[in-house]
Amino acid sequence: MRLRSTEAGWGVLLRTFHWLIAALILAQAVIGLSMVPMGVTPAKVRVFALHKSIGMTILALALLRIAWRMGEKRPVDPAGMPRWQRGAARAVHLTLYFLILAIPLSGWWFNSASNAPLAWFGLFPIPSLTGGYDPVWKPRALLTHQMLFWVLVALLVAHVGAALWHHFVQRDDVLRRMLVGSRERNGGG
Ligand code: HEM
Ligand code: HEM
Repeated sequence: MRLRSTEAGWGVLLRTFHWLIAALILAQAVIGLSMVPMGVTPAKVRVFALHKSIGMTILALALLRIAWRMGEKRPVDPAGMPRWQRGAARAVHLTLYFLILAIPLSGWWFNSASNAPLAWFGLFPIPSLTGGYDPVWKPRALLTHQMLFWVLVALLVAHVGAALWHHFVQRDDVLRRMLVGSRERNGGG
């Protein structure tokens, strides 16, 4: 099992980042969409706190992932992949990296402009981005948080669709090398 990515496949660290962040984002989507319509109860306060803590965890993981990725090799694309597909994949991946930073940042921004508390799993406080209540930026931050989330959903439809198309129609290694690394023997994967 290789820590670093090679030309044949993704390393274990990048794969772990990929699937951990994907699972946390799925949890965030379910929690975020179901917590907003809840009646005002202590449970709602707890669920909001959970959403914010998981969201800040995603922000930290995304920063670590991008820092690690900058020193990584990228596995080579399958032979014969058209240029436009390579370009489209790069554009979607770059936008996904942008969104896993921008969505939690906009949530943190909205929370700050609402002057709501923020403590990572109740363990330590996280400072405000706005220095207190801000009636002008609060609705803009919320709209940004919501809109970026739906942009992410749309891009994920394309991203997951492309992964499944590679696997089931093209029958290449693109999904396999993100799941289990490379197919190489002697140290691959
Ligand atoms: C990748 C991370 C995140 C995702 C995918 C996400 C997703 C969502 C979604 C889908 C909603 C429901 C939007 C609606 O229907 O109104 C929501 C609401 C919310 N999010 Fe996030 N969120 C993330 C991170 C954060 C962070 C880091 C914070 C704060 C530190 C945060 C604070 C909030 C708050 C306060 C709401 C409720 C907005 C309202 O009162 O209408 N989120 N989020
Ligand atoms: C919130 C969910 C997800 C996010 C944010 C995300 C993000 C990304 C990003 C940024 C990359 C580019 C890796 C790089 O070049 O460093 C990538 C690669 C990949 N993702 Fe996802 N992904 C998500 C979910 C999924 C799911 C559900 C699948 C499969 C069903 C999937 C399959 C893949 C595959 C196969 C690659 C490798 C592409 C290649 O080798 O060229 N992803 N993902």
